[in-house]
Amino acid sequence: MKKFAIVTGASKGLGRAFSLELGSRGINTILVSLPGEDIHVLNDEIIQKFGTTSVYFEVDLSDYDNVISFTKTINEQYSVFLLINNAGIGGTMKFEDATVNLVNKIVQLNVMAVSVLTRQLIPNLASQSQSYVLNISSLAAFNPVGYKLVYPASKAFVDSFTKGMSAEYRDTNVFFSVINPGAMPTNDAVVDRILRQGWLGRITQLYPNDVARKSLNKLFQKKRPYRFNPISELILWMLPSRFKLPFLTGIVKREFSKP
Ligand SMILES: NC(=O)c1ccc[n+]([C@@H]2O[C@H](COP(=O)([O-])OP(=O)(O)OC[C@H]3O[C@@H](n4cnc5c(N)ncnc54)[C@H](OP(=O)(O)O)[C@@H]3O)[C@@H](O)[C@H]2O)c1
Repeated sequence: MKKFAIVTGASKGLGRAFSLELGSRGINTILVSLPGEDIHVLNDEIIQKFGTTSVYFEVDLSDYDNVISFTKTINEQYSVFLLINNAGIGGTMKFEDATVNLVNKIVQLNVMAVSVLTRQLIPNLASQSQSYVLNISSLAAFNPVGYKLVYPASKAFVDSFTKGMSAEYRDTNVFFSVINPGAMPTNDAVVDRILRQGWLGRITQLYPNDVARKSLNKLFQKKRPYRFNPISELILWMLPSRFKLPFLTGIVKREFSKP
């Protein structure tokens, strides 16, 4: 039976980069995207370019019932040896300006979907000779900050959840890993943020193709994840914590209040 890698949030940004990188390695893919994102175009591109088997599902993963029915279908029809929990969203604004729907969506996608997808797919993953789960957290996981709504806290969840799973599954055939990249120019909001940060933004920005390739190299060697942000990590490590939170919050506040 053919084995597949699942990539959530596959249509663009880092998810697209992971999907293409997997195809280039001859790995069959199950691409998951929100409806209306033309995921069939990427799916066809992968099949034509790499000759692998690729299928796609259009699912809103912020809905619990969708996650349950999607994973039921997957478990009935596919053998999965790699799950990349990539889909994730955030926002930058005053907490009281965010709709309750946005706050809930971030939690559902970044927290509920990551943990429920993993729980549902674990029996499938565990039945393979070797399998992997790669969760996409963020540098934000280590840095609480204002005006980012629940995003940093949700990424701290992803980081903590994966490390706990990694310990629990240490002596099994399921290998867990988490990456914590800094800013990548994947969407207009991040491109704008990188520009506003000037030279620091430019020298610390990461590229999705690079992140995908290096992450998979480390994952398949079952090694510790690549450290993507040595400069940012050093700067943040040097800042005393009583300054760090107001300093970062001030930067984020400027990002959305500047014309
Ligand atoms: N960009 C950065 O600077 C950065 C930095 C650190 C970590 N990250 C993390 O990296 C991951 C990918 O980010 P990105 O910047 O490449 O993505 P993005 O361009 O911001 O797009 C959001 C991603 O989430 C998916 N998505 C959004 N709502 C969804 C829903 N309801 N159901 C299913 N999927 C949904 C989208 O998938 P489809 O369009 O395919 O539906 C897309 O892949 C995220 O977890 C993000 O938090 C990003």
